[in-house]
Amino acid sequence: MSMTSARLLPGAPVAEAVLAQVAEGAAELRAVGVTPTLATVLVGDDEASAGYIRIKQRQAAELGFASPHVRLAASASQADVHAVLADFNSDPGVHGVLLQYPVPGGLDYDRALQTLDPDSDVDGMHPVNMGRLALGLPGPLPCTPAAVEALLAHHGVPVAGREVVILGRGATLGRPLAMLLAQKRSTANAAVTVVHTGVVDWPRYTRRAEILVAAVGVPGIVRPEHVRPGAVVVGGGVRYAGRRLLPDVDESCAAVAGAITPRVGGVGPVTVAMFARNALRAARSAADQAVRCQGGGAEALPGDRAPN
Ligand SMILES: NC(=O)c1ccc[n+]([C@@H]2O[C@H](COP(=O)([O-])OP(=O)(O)OC[C@H]3O[C@@H](n4cnc5c(N)ncnc54)[C@H](OP(=O)(O)O)[C@@H]3O)[C@@H](O)[C@H]2O)c1
Repeated sequence: MSMTSARLLPGAPVAEAVLAQVAEGAAELRAVGVTPTLATVLVGDDEASAGYIRIKQRQAAELGFASPHVRLAASASQADVHAVLADFNSDPGVHGVLLQYPVPGGLDYDRALQTLDPDSDVDGMHPVNMGRLALGLPGPLPCTPAAVEALLAHHGVPVAGREVVILGRGATLGRPLAMLLAQKRSTANAAVTVVHTGVVDWPRYTRRAEILVAAVGVPGIVRPEHVRPGAVVVGGGVRYAGRRLLPDVDESCAAVAGAITPRVGGVGPVTVAMFARNALRAARSAADQAVRCQGGGAEALPGDRAPN
């Protein structure tokens, strides 16, 4: 008998759907003379980070975005990084800015991020954007949590009114995802519980989850005995051993779950698409503001806050 009984929830078709929408929106903006522009900044020589930047730039090019790139040496100072971000902040032709994480030791990523214009923050991780998320105000959403919501919505997994348990309360995934899925919207509106190292008996909670999201970064931490039979399991946390990806969710969970993200190609590809969606959002609101400043009618630009 096959180990896999669960339905797979791949990320690729979700990413494709998000990117198709972004491409359409980008074409609409180009038609009115605005080229959506996503600037990227890489500090240092980390191979994996350089690879991520290449993926994002290739994607930007495919979408018809402009994507200016600045690469700073590993020896760059905090002030050097801030200066590059300040230049992009003051350039009205640059809509979205991505500072690749991590930055070399000695530099403070969070402090640099805080100098970025929150409306240009395609990561959605600026404190102002976290605050907007907490308050339910419009703004760029943090990419990985937005990816989880979009993945569930795309695959027709009902979330509203259901019990979601998130293992991990990190700033990138667990904490913002809890805020997102508790919002009063049709693709969220869940009963959300967050567990972590402070909850020693966390399996007591995960075993009752209708939707379980692993957001830890400890390979194989989620085992079949932690999963309610038939539950939906989303693996968000990963650790890299060299180039090998080690997910939080042990593959054997597929024998117990009703639906599960694949070992590779689940949340990750959707996360990358969310950067582009946030960049388009920034370009739209800049174009909208330009129209207002010229005293023209504030023609409504299509909204993009709904995940799908
Ligand atoms: N798939 C993607 O596209 C994508 C994108 C970004 C990030 N990620 C991954 O998402 C994961 C979470 O990242 P993050 O920055 O949000 O989190 P983080 O800051 O690394 O925090 C990890 C969380 O897991 C909890 N935890 C660690 N060991 C545990 C254990 N043995 N039992 C119970 N809880 C435990 C921690 O609890 P305490 O708070 O009590 O310490 C913490 O809340 C990482 O693996 C990251 O690589 C994936």
